[in-house]
Parts: sequence; C-alpha cells; structure tokens
Amino acid sequence: MFAAAAARPTTPAIPQDLFGAIADLKQDLNAIILAHYYQENDIQDIADYIGDSLGLARQAAQTDAEVIVFAGVHFMAETAKILNPNKLVLLPDLDAGCSLADSCPPAEFAQFKAKHPDHIVISYINCTAEIKAMSDIICTSSNAVKIVNQIPADQPIIFAPDKNLGRYVSEQTGRDLLLWQGSCIVHETFSEKRIIELKLEHPNAEVLAHPECETPVLNHADFIGSTTALLKRSQDSASQTFIVATEPGIIHQMEKASPSKTFIPAPSTSNCACNECPHMRLNTLEKLYLAMKHKAPEITLSPDIATAALKPIQKMLEMSV
Ligand code: 13P
Ligand code: SF4
Repeated sequence: MFAAAAARPTTPAIPQDLFGAIADLKQDLNAIILAHYYQENDIQDIADYIGDSLGLARQAAQTDAEVIVFAGVHFMAETAKILNPNKLVLLPDLDAGCSLADSCPPAEFAQFKAKHPDHIVISYINCTAEIKAMSDIICTSSNAVKIVNQIPADQPIIFAPDKNLGRYVSEQTGRDLLLWQGSCIVHETFSEKRIIELKLEHPNAEVLAHPECETPVLNHADFIGSTTALLKRSQDSASQTFIVATEPGIIHQMEKASPSKTFIPAPSTSNCACNECPHMRLNTLEKLYLAMKHKAPEITLSPDIATAALKPIQKMLEMSV
C-alpha cells in the first residue's frame, strides 16, 4: 500500500480578468473601493475614489455603499470603520500597517499624556484607534495647520505621533507644540545630498515634498503639502519637471494628469527601494479581489475604543470644512 500523498495547500483561483471580476463583486456587494495614492497602479485604476487621508475619511463618512473596500493601510481602514461601525470594512492585507502609527504605543502615550494634563492632544490620523481614543482632535497633513490655528493661543498642545509634521506645523503656526517623537520610515529615507545633486542636474525642476519629510529635505522644497495638494500643484505649476519627495505611488496620478511633464522620485540614502512604503505595497489587486470574494479580512474594533475615537475624528471633519 502506498501512503496517501500529503495534502497540498490549495491556491485560491484567481480569474484572468481581475478588473472584470472585481467590478462584478462591487455590484454584488454594493461596495465602494477607496484607495490611497501609494497603492500600486492597478489598484488606483480600479478604485472609485483615490485621495489623501482627509479625502478618504470624508468619502468614508458620506458613502451609501454597504461595504467599504479600503486599499490603504490599517489606520485608514480603521478610520473608515470608526465612521461606519455597522458596515463591513475590508482591508486586502490585514498586515498593511504603518511605521508611524507603530511609533506611538498606546501605553507609553497614555503615560506621556498623563504628565501634561493641561495640554490638549491633536493627533495626526496616522495613529491607531487607541491613540485616537486618547486624542481631542485628529488632523491630517492637509488640515493640520488650519486646525492648530483654530486653538486658542494660550492652550498648550501635544502633537502626536509625527515629529516631522509637528515641527512643520509649529513653524507654520508659530505655536510651541509638545511633540511625540514618532516618524515614518519612508519619508525619513530621502537623501538631502541626492536631492541637491538632482537639482543641479535639473535646474528648472520644482521640488514637491510631503511634510512627513525631515527638515533638511523640506528646506529644499518649492512646495510642501499632502499627497492631494502635491498632485494639484503638479497640475497647476508651469514647471515641466518635478522631484517628488513622497512615496512614488503618487507619480502614477501625476503622470496621468500631466502626461507631458517629467516626474523624478526623490532618491533614498542607499540604492534601495526604501522610498516605497512596504506596508502600502502589501496590498495587491489579487488580494483585493480575494478580500471581496471572501468578505475578509475585515476590520474589527472594540466598541468602547471605536466610540471614543469617533469624537476627535468628527471634530476634525467639523474644523476642516
Ligand atoms: P496624506 O495622503 O494624507 O498626505 O498622507 C500621506 C501618508 O503618509 C499616508 O500614510
Ligand atoms: Fe505609514 Fe509612512 Fe507608509 Fe504613510 S508612507 S503608511 S506614514 S509608513
């Protein structure tokens, strides 16, 4: 007698026409696909909406769809779930986290906050639901300056978790912010030296930078803003060449909007692809299809945390109209 062959792991069937299969599932589920600019090109091309964190939160707040398929990272999908506790929110890869969100562990942040009871907490949306639940107001890179400017001048503020965005907002508003020392591995990888070299090679190029970059890089920027603001600037500017200091996924939309212009991704310090967000890139079109087909993995949250985290998100939406 022969021993039975060991069971092989089954590979789920992936249809040839993934775009068509996803479009069919979207109809069946009454789903909306929300995607961030750092997603791979195919995902951007199939999304119903592509945007920055504020735009994505606004879309999540107003959608009538029953299912939200979130092509982004965990904190973004979590924000959509907090805004829609009764809807199914799917994330193609549940491991798509964020180094910046990870740089602010809730227990340590609670201790930090307890040491400064007179401060209010403004947290960048790139944080976990637990941190949001400990915050008074959430902000994104597109409304942080506007929100801080609305806080009375004598009110001390903790700004978490991104020290680079915090420093930028402090400079723009003239406010002395108490900064949590978190950062994003992607936006800290850009090399000032290599940006200077690129500027010498392309003297007419405009440098576009995200405020999560470190100060030496921001000092070389002609324009600083959220991903949506950078995209708009690339369309509105008369410049023909741009050095883009943010995750290069956004260049897909820049090239689509301005096909005759040249976009150069800002290089990192070493010859790696470290300027690509390893978390964002965990999502693929195949995983997005499988998530819709199996209605999993879904975002789940403790109701207490979700309720506490909703308030500062709503406050942000009110303060940034
Ligand atoms: P925005 O798209 O809101 O500018 O944020 C960039 C980012 O790092 C998302 O993780
Ligand atoms: Fe987080 Fe940075 Fe990736 Fe944005 S680019 S998701 S901040 S690790």
